[in-house]
Amino acid sequence: MHERNGNPLSICVVGAGYVGLTTGTVFASFGHSVTIVEKDVSKLETLIAGNVPIFEPGLEELMNEDLQNELLNFSSDLASALEKAQVVFVAVGTPSSPDGSADLRAVDAVSDEIARLLCRPIVLVIKSTVPIGTSDAVAGRIRKALALRSDELAALGVLPASGRVEELCEVVFCPEFLREGKALLDLVHPHRIVIGTESKAALDLLKRLFASIDAPILVTDRRSAEAIKYASNAFLATKISFVNEMANLCEMTGADIIDVAVGMGMDDRIGDKFLQAGVGYGGSCFPKDTKALLSIAETAGYNFAILKAVVAVNERQKRRVISILHDTIGDLAGTRIALLGLAFKPETDDIREAPSIVVAQELLQQGADVIGYDPQAAQNLANEIPGIVIASSAEEAIDGADAIVLLTEWNEFLRLDPADVKSRMRGDLLIDGRNVLDPERLIQVGIRYRGIGRRMCNLGDVRDPEGECESC
Ligand code: UGA
Repeated sequence: MHERNGNPLSICVVGAGYVGLTTGTVFASFGHSVTIVEKDVSKLETLIAGNVPIFEPGLEELMNEDLQNELLNFSSDLASALEKAQVVFVAVGTPSSPDGSADLRAVDAVSDEIARLLCRPIVLVIKSTVPIGTSDAVAGRIRKALALRSDELAALGVLPASGRVEELCEVVFCPEFLREGKALLDLVHPHRIVIGTESKAALDLLKRLFASIDAPILVTDRRSAEAIKYASNAFLATKISFVNEMANLCEMTGADIIDVAVGMGMDDRIGDKFLQAGVGYGGSCFPKDTKALLSIAETAGYNFAILKAVVAVNERQKRRVISILHDTIGDLAGTRIALLGLAFKPETDDIREAPSIVVAQELLQQGADVIGYDPQAAQNLANEIPGIVIASSAEEAIDGADAIVLLTEWNEFLRLDPADVKSRMRGDLLIDGRNVLDPERLIQVGIRYRGIGRRMCNLGDVRDPEGECESC
């Protein structure tokens, strides 16, 4: 339980996906009364039974605390939830359409439903990531629908004194900045809260809602708030693609990306975060949002050149380990390759757009046997790629492997004993796709270590008699 908000509100959250569930749970823990509305019956039953359908550290415990304190409940009945709600969050999915644009059908359907059922004033907060201009369009849709209901609303006695029907539903855009695996922390201690509204009444209510959170608040218009969300994710993705390109160049020129990234990060203007080179970004956000921003630019007639390169570099980077495997062991047909880590990042079971999907598919296509292990995401990957064999531990995956490829930096991989790893393998190659293992310890036991953008002579690898690294 977090510190209680002395001024509790009644909240309805539409959509028990990642954002809706974590947001609703945290606001309930602040003492607000929260109803999460979900259409999917089996998900609803799971939640009512106190189980969380996703893996997110701390979420199930906090949710059950809220349920026990009767501050949180789950329902499929939007109409009843709207009867008491003061703030309604829209947290439904906006997946990629085949052309890369955001699919807004769920947002539109929920807005229409709310406009049809609304019977008291609310602030409607759009949390779903939506293209610039969407919240304005939603406000327009709702205004029109409410205008058609004005007699009914007048009879209910809920029309504002101004007679302006749209004041019954102030639409606000308020982006979420949660990281999977750290969602609760990010909700309670965000870097910032962005509120896109020009309504003073809506702003006052939301400030009441966010009173328990100690973070700077940026108030702007709805379009700028929508742009902030895409710009933030696209910029972080840019940092990653930049450092990955730099890493590839370091490898060719004898520099070491670890030191390069540290040196860059010492400049406050650059910052030391999101400069970890590796096998590329994945997940449900960066890939989707970069493509959606490209689609927004295209629709606006703008050539967003840098972002196109960011996306292309990331696609190429996911295949980087395949070229390292070719360079080091040649033909992959009949080899046994162990993949350590399948989730798109640690502390999640999410494999959406994970580099592991591309790597596993490519290896299978080239005739390799692929054995994967992940503490949380193994089953999800097996469902997606039936050809992969799932091991129940890292050790089991490594047994008899010609090469090991680390794709996700789960902590347990840092604790592997190098001598044990070497003795289990048939070959001697280990590709550290996240640059998190200690090369010295691996090289000492006879493992051929390859990272991403590492300077081989720094790693005590092959040296000629003059002490020069062969690759320099
Ligand atoms: C990301 C953002 O970090 C959140 O701020 C945002 O709210 C969220 O998207 C969203 O839009 O909902 P998330 O996708 O959970 O959060 O994961 P990140 O921790 O940002 O990692 C994304 C990917 O980048 C992962 O595959 C990770 O391995 C990779 N990454 C990250 C790198 O390759 N290098 C880095 O230095 C950092």
